Amino acid sequence: MSEPIPVNPNMLKWARETAGLEVDNVVTIAMAMASFAGDTWHIPVNTDLLLAGAMLHDVCKVVECAPEEGKPGKRSAIGENLVHGAYGVHLALNAGLPLRVVHLIGSHTPQVSQLPKVVEGIFICYADYAAADIFHLGKGMPLLLDTTGLKLSKTLAKLTTAAANLGAHTENAGAFD
Ligand SMILES: [Fe+2]
Repeated sequence: MSEPIPVNPNMLKWARETAGLEVDNVVTIAMAMASFAGDTWHIPVNTDLLLAGAMLHDVCKVVECAPEEGKPGKRSAIGENLVHGAYGVHLALNAGLPLRVVHLIGSHTPQVSQLPKVVEGIFICYADYAAADIFHLGKGMPLLLDTTGLKLSKTLAKLTTAAANLGAHTENAGAFD
């Protein structure tokens, strides 16, 4: 039997002020990318899948973070010991979500080697980086583009390869059949 996850009293406040805003931004940017891709390149996007993945991609943060006053980025034991996204995959599987949604959660971060197998996942990854750096710009903070430098450029190059492998025109509907 698993141990219950300890409740952090600062968690809801932090989630509303930071994580919730970030998720909203990723959803907005990913949907704008899907609209652009459809209008300009006639790329079909499953918007239900995109929305589900964008809304849930960081669901693991509710247990990965243990914010304290003055230390909003403090990590919990789960955050210290599991790769980002792993607990989100666990939650999604336990909730009985479709494998294609679980895949989007598990492949959204450069911390894992799994690349998205569907165009919806590629949009979520790009939207995640864009949302983070737009937030950083607004706060006058260092950009991921600067702070992670080569690592981010390698990740973006891999995403470009993943997009090319999808043919940049399909939901890759057979990927989860
Ligand atoms: Fe994330």
